[in-house]
Amino acid sequence: MKAAYIHQPGPPESIVYGELPNPQPTGAQVLVKVAAVSVNPVDTYVRSGAVAWSLPLPFIVGCDLAGTVEAVGPDVSRFKPRDRVWGSNQGLLGRQGTFAEYAAVEEQWLYRTPPGVSDRDAAATALVGITAHLGLFRDAKLRRGETLFVHGGSGGVGSTVLQMAKAVGAGVITTAGSEEKAEICRRLGADLVIRYKTEDVGEAVQRFAPGGVHVWWETLREPDLDRAVQHLALRGRLILMAGREARPPFPVGPFYVKDCSAHGFAMFNAPPDEQRRAADDVNRWLAEGKLRPRISRVMRLAETAAAHRLQEESTIHKSGGLAGKIVLEP
Ligand SMILES: NC(=O)c1ccc[n+]([C@@H]2O[C@H](COP(=O)([O-])OP(=O)(O)OC[C@H]3O[C@@H](n4cnc5c(N)ncnc54)[C@H](OP(=O)(O)O)[C@@H]3O)[C@@H](O)[C@H]2O)c1
Repeated sequence: MKAAYIHQPGPPESIVYGELPNPQPTGAQVLVKVAAVSVNPVDTYVRSGAVAWSLPLPFIVGCDLAGTVEAVGPDVSRFKPRDRVWGSNQGLLGRQGTFAEYAAVEEQWLYRTPPGVSDRDAAATALVGITAHLGLFRDAKLRRGETLFVHGGSGGVGSTVLQMAKAVGAGVITTAGSEEKAEICRRLGADLVIRYKTEDVGEAVQRFAPGGVHVWWETLREPDLDRAVQHLALRGRLILMAGREARPPFPVGPFYVKDCSAHGFAMFNAPPDEQRRAADDVNRWLAEGKLRPRISRVMRLAETAAAHRLQEESTIHKSGGLAGKIVLEP
């Protein structure tokens, strides 16, 4: 089969697109014929070695996938050939990745793709959908009528957090780096979009939510926690999930006197049952059209190195070149 893989961590150019043996499903593994995959920033951290997990070599990059069941291992009970499935959480913690024509995935990380939902959309929603759900509902316990702030409402995580918050009846404040991205956020349902390059974010949040926001979801890799805590309401919840190198000052006084809480998480730590609960809602909202994945670019699997470069330029070097996910197809 064709696959995008590395022999050792390195720059995007270390990704080889070439032939590897087809995987054979054993135990509770499902062999998926991959129709679409999507890039996440963490794919680039694993590929570069910034996240130092011991990798199966050659290591196929990537976490997300969508496609059709080709064959199943002897212990598989949930799926059969020709079922349409999507999944995430591969290529992490030493598991093999998904950027190939076929992937053997433990059935506990796979979910049925709802009828009418495309493989592109399922792949684009996978990791960001589970991430947004865990942070919003397991951790922040967002409720109808509350107000949430999230940076980057047209980004991979931001656009998903925005839509899920709207799906449960919360108000959403978000930011955008251009008018085009602001328009994307409005179309996704944002109640207030702040053009952070020309407007004062703090002032705009204060005007819209004078009593503070109930949930501040921080997607920035260098978060300003002074500002975040300043705009949290009484019993506000702060979600921290980006910026491995970040060591910002933390405003203890303003935080505790408002009974606030902070929740840090990485989606890959969530056990299969927690990820499945998230995936069930993702599927329902995809089927109902309440969750519309933001696909910024569609590329060929052969272009994986270029896709990694583009993701790094946009997310890490802040080129602003993307407004959502990169999807690749074999
Ligand atoms: N903990 C976890 O489980 C988990 C899961 C997924 C992702 N992550 C992390 O979350 C981060 C975001 O991932 P992603 O996939 O959403 O990346 P992304 O699609 O590149 O989105 C990043 C967003 O940040 C916005 N942004 C950048 N600088 C900004 C600034 N100064 N002010 C306001 N907004 C700014 C961008 O908005 P504009 O384009 O409008 O400038 C963009 O929408 C990454 O660091 C990733 O590693 C963590």
